[in-house]
Amino acid sequence: MTDNTNHNDADKSRERVIGTPTSEGATLATAEDAPHRRHEGPYPAEETHVRPEEVQRRGERMASLWFLVAFLAGIGFFVSYFMFPANSDGTPSIADPETAQWANMLLGGTLALALFSIGAGMTVWVRRVLPHYEVSSPYDELPSSEEEKSSFSEFFMRGAQESGILKRPLLRRTLLLAMVPLGLAPVVLLRDMGPLPGDKLKRTIWRDGTYLVVEGTNRRIRAEDLVPGSMISVLPEPDDPEHGLSMNDQAEAVTILIKMDPKDFGPGMSQQQLEWTHDGIVAYSKVCTHVGCPAALYEQTTHRILCPCHQSTFDAANGAAVVFGPAHRPLPQLPIRVDEEGYLVAAGDFSAPVGPTFWDAGVED
Ligand code: FES
Repeated sequence: MTDNTNHNDADKSRERVIGTPTSEGATLATAEDAPHRRHEGPYPAEETHVRPEEVQRRGERMASLWFLVAFLAGIGFFVSYFMFPANSDGTPSIADPETAQWANMLLGGTLALALFSIGAGMTVWVRRVLPHYEVSSPYDELPSSEEEKSSFSEFFMRGAQESGILKRPLLRRTLLLAMVPLGLAPVVLLRDMGPLPGDKLKRTIWRDGTYLVVEGTNRRIRAEDLVPGSMISVLPEPDDPEHGLSMNDQAEAVTILIKMDPKDFGPGMSQQQLEWTHDGIVAYSKVCTHVGCPAALYEQTTHRILCPCHQSTFDAANGAAVVFGPAHRPLPQLPIRVDEEGYLVAAGDFSAPVGPTFWDAGVED
């Protein structure tokens, strides 16, 4: 007697119960009362607690209401996002801490409400519309038998039917509607990556006629000021001397000016590149084409320009071709000429995008 009781207790402790008994429908027998029902899979109709149609309809309306709230909150998310337009220079307005605080509260609040409402709608759907089961089954060893697998898939398909996703278009449509703003949200957030660069990466502020000025003193340079073997760093003369150049413009436009004997130019210089020089003065970008360090160490006897970061070496007498190091392309050349007073001016922008090569540089590595 004692042994039997212990055995039954052990069996009960290994049972699991899934589902919530409802006030409607019949109360189910336990697994002990009906051992033949174990592993039956999709549960017999008499074990299903189907909600009365009126209850289901109320549930449908309530769930749909939640989905509509989710939709409106999702729209609110977009409105909150676009309430803060980018600054005139293209930077996101939420770069300002106070604006960011408001933006975060609105974005987070609307997104949280949208997600909560979808969850609430799904909960109401399950609790009020779907039929419920009370299920008893023993814990078994893994893996599942073929019988259990097919039983599960049958059960799953039956669940899909009973969920009402096909039968109840109002639920289905409002749920899909609620999902639309959330699905689009990641796409819209791409805007925070900033404005597209356009061709900004391919050009600098050098233009035909821009005076070359000495970096630091902003003094214009006459061609005869340079002695053979010399090298100086130059910048474009700013249109507005009072405010000067922006740091970005300076970083992109900085140039080295080298004076050598014109006879030293080698075969690596094309006819076009020779025309871009003036009386042995050649101008190259100072921004290394490896990862952008200033390439400004010049060895006058070999005409080598060395970048101190990773030792890329360029041949100034041959179009700044790479002769050593990790850089893959020459330093871009700046076409120069002199004005009627003998001052050096640019004859256009650089021959290629300056600095490290990027995906759309339009130059071969
Ligand atoms: S940045 Fe010039 S060699 Fe690396």
